[in-house]
Amino acid sequence: MNVDDCKLINLPKITDPRGNLTFIEGNRHVAFPIQRVFYLYDVPGGADRGGHALKRCHQFLIAMSGSFDVILDDGTQKRRVHLSRSYYGLHIPPMIWREMDNFSSGSVCLVLASECYSESDYFREYAAFEAALKNGR
Ligand code: TYD
Repeated sequence: MNVDDCKLINLPKITDPRGNLTFIEGNRHVAFPIQRVFYLYDVPGGADRGGHALKRCHQFLIAMSGSFDVILDDGTQKRRVHLSRSYYGLHIPPMIWREMDNFSSGSVCLVLASECYSESDYFREYAAFEAALKNGR
């Protein structure tokens, strides 16, 4: 995988004077069946999140409110993506190191995941992630 495999995906947007609506179906708008949903909220100013890569899990990140940056790293190249709207999201395939910063106050990051939570799916040390890339994992 490389950072260019992380795609910004537009979601359906039903505009309505009563308020807009966006919906997401697994295997349709996101390229995987959704096994888990979690969200980051009440993030204090200046906080960083992420700092890991996942072995098998695909994730799809949406700024439900406010904005933040995702820094993607495939071991060779880095790319910074700013998420700020709730009608598109960022697909992060496995084996991409990701960090998050620049959270605006009141921001909420929704994450759709292809796997249930498993600590054994994580690389939490960058050196271990790099070593796995070198070994062709
Ligand atoms: P972590 O993935 O380290 O957060 P981030 O990388 O965004 O800073 O998760 C923080 C804690 O929450 C960690 O102890 C694992 C736990 N956790 C779950 O139990 N289930 C989940 O689905 C997630 C994402 C985290």
